[in-house]
Amino acid sequence: MSAPSDTQRMEKIVSLCKRRGFIFQSSEIYGGLNGAWDYGPLGVELKRNLKNYWWQMTVHERDDVVGMDGSILTHPAVLKASGHVEGFSDPMIDCRTCKAHLRADQLVEKKGVKQCPNCGGKDLTAPRQFNLMFETHVGAATDESSIAYLRPETAQSIFVQFKNILEVSRKKLPFGIAQVGKAFRNEINPRNFTFRSREFEQMELEYFCRPEQGMELLEYWKEERLKFYENIGIPRSKLHVLTVPDEERAFYSKGTYDIEYDFPFGRQELEGIAYRTDYDLSQHQKASGKSLEYFDEEMKQRFVPHVVEPSAGVDRTVLALICEAYSEDQAPDEKGKMETRIVLRFHPRVAPVKCGVFPLLKNNPQLVAKAKEVVALLRPHMTVFYDESGAIGRRYRRQDEIGTPFGITVDFETLGEKDSALRDTVTLRDRDSMKQERVAIKDLPAIFHERLA
Ligand code: GAP
Repeated sequence: MSAPSDTQRMEKIVSLCKRRGFIFQSSEIYGGLNGAWDYGPLGVELKRNLKNYWWQMTVHERDDVVGMDGSILTHPAVLKASGHVEGFSDPMIDCRTCKAHLRADQLVEKKGVKQCPNCGGKDLTAPRQFNLMFETHVGAATDESSIAYLRPETAQSIFVQFKNILEVSRKKLPFGIAQVGKAFRNEINPRNFTFRSREFEQMELEYFCRPEQGMELLEYWKEERLKFYENIGIPRSKLHVLTVPDEERAFYSKGTYDIEYDFPFGRQELEGIAYRTDYDLSQHQKASGKSLEYFDEEMKQRFVPHVVEPSAGVDRTVLALICEAYSEDQAPDEKGKMETRIVLRFHPRVAPVKCGVFPLLKNNPQLVAKAKEVVALLRPHMTVFYDESGAIGRRYRRQDEIGTPFGITVDFETLGEKDSALRDTVTLRDRDSMKQERVAIKDLPAIFHERLA
């Protein structure tokens, strides 16, 4: 079942992303490159916060996971062994009327007749398999011998480096190898903003285990991953776990869940969690002729480990964070008149800018100097934005629109002009409640330490 779509809301989100510098179309001034996106100053901060938090939870806070960073250019033998060269394809259909290339599952059906979703044309080709991998050539020659691929998933370099990492990390099963990085797929029809792109990032964990632990660990990782999304501000009520039916699962998988989110354009996959058995390591062992076995010292057993893989999309999660955060409410303007406020209610953990700092007046050197002192105090701990231009209400609005959770105003009370007891205090405003409290400048690092944790 799909949640209702909301085209208008999505249009507003796409427009905000461009207006405020979250996401731009790639090569925009040349007409754009379909399926590729550039992250602007705020988008890159949001994306980094997401990846850093994933790495913190998945690698740094655990004893049983180590990281790696593999190359994007991939030896064809790796992708032959994994099955990608032969089978990483989608069925494609062409519309002879409007010449569109379509994924077979995108056709619409009216009165039992398949039609093109663009022009309604019924003159369609038979489906044919289209391999989604980007091929390139390494070195000066451009023949068969120089073919390499841009990796279609980060996972394969983890499998290929399994033995090296096992040796250097001296981990015992169960243990995992994590990786965050780019992946490339020549999607037939990129769509829904960044949701389906041709270049995207993944956050993948391959968690190796004994065969009898696989099903239990699949459940364990499903729960861990749901907690992760809640920790970054996506409520459980908007997340759905789909048990992928037997006939849709990869033949080697004994169980797969998709974690889905209610995007404005419908319920769609954020992450797959798959119990991939020993398929990948066995394939690479067979094709390379190198042992990828594990020796269990206690049981005195040698075997190829099984693996459970939580595989999440960075760009899809960024999009979910923006969609979830986007809201409009009513707030008073400078003259007390109510106006519509656009606010991104990001969880402080992922917000691109944590705090705005504003001197009440830009032409008062004392206020400006004090505000800059506050910036210098906070900058080692968090991203801070200093803004002195325009009315204070406007400055708050600009920060609300990019999801800054806190705003600090340095005013005449900070200078101790009205009441010396208030010297070196500032107002701290909360984005969501718009409530303001008076706090001492020296207490700010501790306050933020607690509220941004
Ligand atoms: N290693 C397993 C794997 O790659 P997948 O379901 O094909 O599994 C995992 O991809 C995740 O990568 C997806 O859940 C999605 O978040 C992200 N992803 C896949 N294709 C994507 C695309 N074309 N654009 C953006 N994200 C994509």
